[in-house]
Amino acid sequence: MDFTLTEEQKMVQQAARDFTQTELLPGVIERDEKQQFPAEAVGKMGELGFMGMMVNPDYGGSGLDTLSYVLVMEELSKVDASASVVVSVNNSLVCWGLETYGTPEQKDKYLRRLAAGEIIGAFCLSEPEAGSDASSQKTTALDKGDHYVLNGTKNWITNGGSASVYLVIAQTHPEMGHKGINALIVEKGMPGFEIGPKEQKMGIRGSDTHSLIFNDVKVPKENRIGPDGFGFKFAMKTLAGGRIGIAAQALGIAAGAYELALKYATQRKAFGTEIANHQAIAFKLADMHTQIEAARMMVYRAAIDKDQDADYDLSGAMAKLYASQVAMDTTIEAVQIHGGNGYVKEYHVERLMRDAKITQIYEGTSEIQKMVISRSILKN
Ligand code: CAA
Repeated sequence: MDFTLTEEQKMVQQAARDFTQTELLPGVIERDEKQQFPAEAVGKMGELGFMGMMVNPDYGGSGLDTLSYVLVMEELSKVDASASVVVSVNNSLVCWGLETYGTPEQKDKYLRRLAAGEIIGAFCLSEPEAGSDASSQKTTALDKGDHYVLNGTKNWITNGGSASVYLVIAQTHPEMGHKGINALIVEKGMPGFEIGPKEQKMGIRGSDTHSLIFNDVKVPKENRIGPDGFGFKFAMKTLAGGRIGIAAQALGIAAGAYELALKYATQRKAFGTEIANHQAIAFKLADMHTQIEAARMMVYRAAIDKDQDADYDLSGAMAKLYASQVAMDTTIEAVQIHGGNGYVKEYHVERLMRDAKITQIYEGTSEIQKMVISRSILKN
């Protein structure tokens, strides 16, 4: 597989890198401390075309490939994983889902503005009792002829407070199990739709995570995505692509921590020399570098699979499983290399370590990735 970047991909990567230095880095510690959503940066990322990267320009997107998207995710995540998860959810879960399965009317009404970054979207699958076991949906969307009536609660919804458009997974025909599930487009402000309190999180604290409450929300039939009962497949297909974005986020967090650790190790002196000259530190750097390179190849490979219309369920799950483990291992080592400085906020690595953990949890825990991978291996 050829991992050589095109001139266009290099330009997109550089644009993202520049953006992180001028727009994300300056306030990142404060936003983490205050749990503040990066609203201004999200607006600017919309102007740069980062919010609808793979969407056809006919619908206001940038018309780029998945590899370009992954490059941007990696760069953003080196500096601010709270900002990058907003990009990931909007691109992979919301825009991709609508562009692939939405009607022309749904695309006109919602996708255009989402892809341009004028509004942002949220993907609402998880519930108090249905996170990993996604088909156990308790939220109901009862069929009332020309509309559905939506009732239930969603949990841990990224962009929960700041989104305008929500793709909500709900059960319409409980007797049919996962074949009775639908995906509905719900707008903020629909009567009966309430946004619950913001979660107080360990990491990605700048991202805006809420529970959502639906109390007899009337959703027009034309807001259903795909045919009746398509909601579970919609969620699975969408999440399979989403995992590539989160794998790229994990890669970026790992690479960001590694770059900081490398710089620190070549400047900080102990026992008469830069600490990088001590084998204990040099070997840590060697391991980190090797693992990050391996993760990068897996993430790029999954992106290229998607671009080439090859199956990416397996490569995406493997990339997420591995890159998120590398993010965890690398950030812990980066803190260790920084010693006492690693434990305080101004050196950034403690935040990256906290942020890394979520990549092993959302869009399918590591255990879920192993289920997807083992099922794929065993069926062949
Ligand atoms: N593509 C297409 N169809 C798929 C699919 C895929 N990737 N995976 C499963 N399906 C289909 C199957 O083919 C099957 O269809 P048929 O009945 O027609 O044969 C159907 O879906 C049911 O499949 P399974 O029996 O495999 O389903 P399962 O109940 O055993 O669950 C699972 C499989 C992979 C564990 C799934 O439940 C899963 O992915 N769970 C994790 C969900 C998740 O990622 N949650 C995170 C929340 S979202 C989030 O975090 C977003 C955010 O805010 C950042």
